[in-house]
Amino acid sequence: MSAILSLRGISKNFGAVAALTDVSLDVAAGQVVAVVGDNGAGKSTLVKVLSGVHSPSAGTITFAGAEVTIGSPAEAHTLGIATVFQDLALCENLDVVENLFLGRELRRGRLDEVAMETRSWELLRELSAKIPTVRIPVASLSGGQRQTVAIARSLLGDPKVIILDEPTAALGVEQTAEVLNLIERLRDRGLGVIMISHNMEDVRAVADRIAVLRLGRDNGVFDAAEVSNETLIAAITGATDNVVTRRASRRESKADV
Ligand SMILES: Nc1ncnc2c1ncn2[C@@H]1O[C@H](COP(=O)(O)OP(=O)(O)OP(=O)(O)O)[C@@H](O)[C@H]1O
Ligand SMILES: [Mg+2]
Repeated sequence: MSAILSLRGISKNFGAVAALTDVSLDVAAGQVVAVVGDNGAGKSTLVKVLSGVHSPSAGTITFAGAEVTIGSPAEAHTLGIATVFQDLALCENLDVVENLFLGRELRRGRLDEVAMETRSWELLRELSAKIPTVRIPVASLSGGQRQTVAIARSLLGDPKVIILDEPTAALGVEQTAEVLNLIERLRDRGLGVIMISHNMEDVRAVADRIAVLRLGRDNGVFDAAEVSNETLIAAITGATDNVVTRRASRRESKADV
């Protein structure tokens, strides 16, 4: 499968802190890649590099066959990379339609409420979302419904890649199942999906490939259908380092002497 999005040698330093070092990642259309790793492994930094919040200190990003720079969230949006951040960034007091179209309202002279409401229903139906009415404030929706609204909003720009940061972290069992179904639907629509998660069960349920970050470095990319839990945990905790990390740490220890 050819990649819609490829990272090569991505590093990101914050002063003396190396949040990411030489990270490579490929995501194909119609594929879910989970990015896992311990606290501080660099997952959120990776998301921010891809969504134009941080620019990388080194490395290249190729999107739809061309090398790109993602200088701002607006540029990410224009390219077709959508991100649903962990805090969702929804407005509690606004209803579903208002949240979906916030900042990019449809107008025909005045606000075109009918068109926005119709488009909202279409989108939610495509996602088989269980939302009873689009005219209730987001404050009265469940966690899973909110996640759905946030994902629906990110789909309005017709992205090719969608990044979900901990989409099930705050959810109960049933809502988690709903969101995992939704992620499968995104894959079926041909999107490349990057899912950050701490929950191995959720990762196993939907991911095609699992990329492990450890201390800001690649620590292996695994086929989700084949990798054992032991291998995965070992990669996350560093009980086993892969060839790349071993070589890198050898280089570092040589540099120390
Ligand atoms: N803006 C920043 N300035 C300085 N250091 C930062 C900044 N953002 C992240 N870091 C550091 O980079 C490293 C990776 O952080 P990051 O937030 O990407 O980890 P994470 O994998 O998302 O962790 P968690 O699972 O806890 O969310 C950490 O050591 C963190 O302290
Ligand atoms: Mg994080």
